[in-house]
Amino acid sequence: MEANPSVLATVGVGDLVLLDPLSEESLLSNLRERFLHKEIYTYIGNVVISVNPYRQLPIYSAEMVEQYCNGNFYAMKPHIYAIAEDAYSSLRDRNRDQCILITGESGAGKTEASKLVMSYVAAVCSKGADVTKVKEQLLQSNPVLEAFGNAKTIRNNNSSRFGKYMDVEFDFKGEPLGGLISNYLLEKSRVVWHVKNERNFHIFYQLLAGASDPLLKRLKLQRDCRHHGYLGDENPRLPGMDDATNFQAVQDAMRIIGFSEAEVMQLLEVTAVVLKLGDLQLSGQFQASGMDACGIQNIQVLRDICELIGLQESILEQALCSRTVEAKQEKVVTALSVAQGYFGRDALAKNIYSRLFDWLVTRINESIQVTAGERRKVMGVLDIYGFEIFQDNSFEQFIINYCNEKLQQIFILMTLKEEQEEYFREGIKWTPVTFFDNSIICDLIESGKGGILVLLDEECLRPGTVSAATFLAKLDQAFGSHEHYESRKSQSDRHITDTSLPSTCFRVHHYAGKVTYNATGFIEKNTDRLYRGLAQAMWQAKHTLLRSLFPDGDPKKASLKMPPTAGFQFKASINTLMKNLYSKNPNYIRCIKPNENQAPGQFTDELVRSQVRYLGLLENVRVRRAGYAYRQPYQPCLERYRLLSTHTWPRWTGTARYGALLSDLDIPPEELAYGHTKVFIRTPQTLFNLEERRRRRVEELATVIQKTYRGWRCRTQYQLMRKSQILISAWFRGHAQKKRYQHMKRAALLIQTYARGWKTRKEYKKYFRSGATARLACFIYRRLLQKFFLGLKNNLPPLTVSDRSWPPAPYRFLTNANQELKTIFYHWKCKKYRDQLSLEKRAAMQTKLCASELFKGKKTRYGPSVPEPFQGDYVGLQKNPKYQKLQAAARGKLVLADTVRKVNQANGKVRPCRLHTPIPELPGVLAVPAQDADGTWCLLPQQTGTGGAKGDVLLVSDHVIEVVTRVHQVLLETTQQALNLQIADQFSTQFKKSSIAVTVVQGPKGHLEPVCKKKGKKMEVLVC
Ligand SMILES: Nc1ncnc2c1ncn2[C@@H]1O[C@H](COP(=O)(O)OP(=O)(O)OP(=O)(O)O)[C@@H](O)[C@H]1O
Ligand SMILES: [Mg+2]
Repeated sequence: MEANPSVLATVGVGDLVLLDPLSEESLLSNLRERFLHKEIYTYIGNVVISVNPYRQLPIYSAEMVEQYCNGNFYAMKPHIYAIAEDAYSSLRDRNRDQCILITGESGAGKTEASKLVMSYVAAVCSKGADVTKVKEQLLQSNPVLEAFGNAKTIRNNNSSRFGKYMDVEFDFKGEPLGGLISNYLLEKSRVVWHVKNERNFHIFYQLLAGASDPLLKRLKLQRDCRHHGYLGDENPRLPGMDDATNFQAVQDAMRIIGFSEAEVMQLLEVTAVVLKLGDLQLSGQFQASGMDACGIQNIQVLRDICELIGLQESILEQALCSRTVEAKQEKVVTALSVAQGYFGRDALAKNIYSRLFDWLVTRINESIQVTAGERRKVMGVLDIYGFEIFQDNSFEQFIINYCNEKLQQIFILMTLKEEQEEYFREGIKWTPVTFFDNSIICDLIESGKGGILVLLDEECLRPGTVSAATFLAKLDQAFGSHEHYESRKSQSDRHITDTSLPSTCFRVHHYAGKVTYNATGFIEKNTDRLYRGLAQAMWQAKHTLLRSLFPDGDPKKASLKMPPTAGFQFKASINTLMKNLYSKNPNYIRCIKPNENQAPGQFTDELVRSQVRYLGLLENVRVRRAGYAYRQPYQPCLERYRLLSTHTWPRWTGTARYGALLSDLDIPPEELAYGHTKVFIRTPQTLFNLEERRRRRVEELATVIQKTYRGWRCRTQYQLMRKSQILISAWFRGHAQKKRYQHMKRAALLIQTYARGWKTRKEYKKYFRSGATARLACFIYRRLLQKFFLGLKNNLPPLTVSDRSWPPAPYRFLTNANQELKTIFYHWKCKKYRDQLSLEKRAAMQTKLCASELFKGKKTRYGPSVPEPFQGDYVGLQKNPKYQKLQAAARGKLVLADTVRKVNQANGKVRPCRLHTPIPELPGVLAVPAQDADGTWCLLPQQTGTGGAKGDVLLVSDHVIEVVTRVHQVLLETTQQALNLQIADQFSTQFKKSSIAVTVVQGPKGHLEPVCKKKGKKMEVLVC
């Protein structure tokens, strides 16, 4: 068989199935060796064997949780986390309710194991705020229940004195939703009495050590344990256990679970009442009838109790010291003896405490219970008191051991018997392995047809005197020959003398050993009697919690019917538990106690051997080795592994049986067996291998699914995008085309309009006032012009020729026209002026014009001379009669008559002379000075012709301009030649054949006549 390396790579063998040779001795030494190397966990297949190390090992860290989380059970070192992981993952992934059965004797480590399982599950499930609250509440129920339900025993400092089964409920994701705790028979006798070196329940010590002084005062308690009767005289301190700190932890835990401050206080008050009841002392009292009677010795304690619970002292006193019996509607009050009084007191204390414990569990359940109705998966963790063998074993031990017997039965049934029976049922070849079946012991105790518990109940209910002896006799009678029952009587019947067996005891051969039970007290404890008066007194108390614990104290509900016995109740609850466990997939943790001293590193062979024996570990290994580690019906097997084979994946149409043959998976044939309904796998390694292949295949398939999904998604996305793109482009194209069409339509319409317009215009042009605009413009233009002209007409400038003013153009376009008009107007004005002139004036004007042409701009004197009219006759010639006669003959022949002065050529002196020169004799060149200004004129006609040697004449005339003009005119008229005129201030003249240079100079101011000064050939003419 191929072994898993991680299981083998530890000290010894990690899985006892692999042990070779297999014997009790080798099994023991393997456990020992591993224990001494701090390997406290060992497997038998999927059963974990845990040996209590009695010391803290570094194997419970968060890293370890991490390692085991999602790991494979067979792939890692044996650990309690592995079984927790296996159960949790099976619950989460395979949807199977799980239960974890933790068994072992007292002190073997069951409670610790259950806490480890819970903490592992809490650590690996998710970490949301809601989940954390639920987890916290579930985990915090432990310290509270341990405080009230655990106590130090000789075997275990933290021994569970009650059975606890906790269902943790998960949702489909594997997240905890809540839980439900069931508790089983608290060992309440411990409240009033415990063996020396043991302790009462932890809570009493924790309260006294941890409560503040005011709280203690309020609860009317003394800090010293020795003051309280139920706590015993011995030193209450426990090594490694700090009661004060634990008290704080319990209070915190209660707060986390959801207890209100008032609830905590009431809980502590009831606890204090239990303690105070132990302080009540009774004393015998004298009665007239001579009957025994008792009374309260320390009234203060009674008063304290009554104050705490809000009850009248007398009521409690009466309930404690007397008993009322109702018979035929008559009440008979009987006084109690001191012993009966103490019995009543203790019964009350036990009842209060056990009912308080039940209330505590119910209250915790209220907080952690799941209310939502969704389908839940459940993981149950059973931590019940371990198998106990004491010196003096009583009813409690009997019940506890009965419970363990039942658990062993489950184990045997499920792991050994059931397994082997299954091989037969399935037709698998099988050599039976013998093992001890404890059904016979279970029957001895619980059989409905006369088991010990039934006989005990009969004895309790039987009228008449009942005692331990009568009960024992009944047992002897029923089981005298039973192989698992012994008593003095049965022994002597078998002719065996057994002094170790007292006459008040009987012995049961349990699976885990023989236990001698003292029959004394069985009947009382089974009846669990509480005087009705006491229950009624409690019901009358004002304390809400205490009152609620005693609903049977309500007189209205009083019934004469006996309540069910403790044994009966326990049996019923154990049967319910068993049914519950059978319905779930079991996971086993078998705890082993290595020594009796609670000492680390000690491995007592004999003690462990006996546990190995009674736990049936060897048989377990044998069955495991011979059998098959794993089986599953064909259908689920096919469902689980069909994905590994190409025949069955993806579709299988054949029957499940053929599909689940795992034939083409390359598994050695001896590893597989095929039953009628199930397929069997021999070794865990094969299963592990299959699981591993499945895991890989699932990953592969997941990848394929992912791939396909991604592909599909991308395709869908692409198609969607494509569709969208097509839609968008279609819309866009449509829109563009629509726009284009609109454009074209508009354009076409425009063209059409124009064309139609044009056509129509063309057609109807004749009907239109074509050129209306031009005409309008023309009209406007004309109107403007009209306005302009009318404006001009009404606003014409004066007709004076010298006035050149003209109104400006009102519009720019009229500027040129205006200018033209101005010119035209001026010309017209001049013409008009001219036209109205007489012939003489016109001739004078022409002369003036001629003068202007000759002199304008050339001679200084010209400007001032313009207004002076040309008179022509300055000497009065026309008045001369001679001339008048002549005039008649030669009309108009007179050109000019003036007096001039001639300049003497020799000296330059001026003398008057008459000048009448016929025109053709005029000299060729006439020189005129340019700058004589003021009326004095020099005329220098140059004589060339007939005068001969006389030379030129230099004349001085006052009307030189007129003279020269006349000459010019005449010359032009007669000869059509223009006068050769020289206007200059320097010129030369010919005096008697000599040439004289004449210079005209401005004379001094004040002289009136021009003066000629001749010096040789130069002559200077000084002009004024
Ligand atoms: N895994 C462990 N590591 C360290 N110490 C442990 C471990 N398991 C148990 N112990 C020690 O052993 C003591 C007894 O264990 P536990 O209370 O779990 O026993 P039990 O089987 O529940 O006994 P009982 O039946 O009396 O309740 C614990 O208080 C603790 O000190
Ligand atoms: Mg325990």
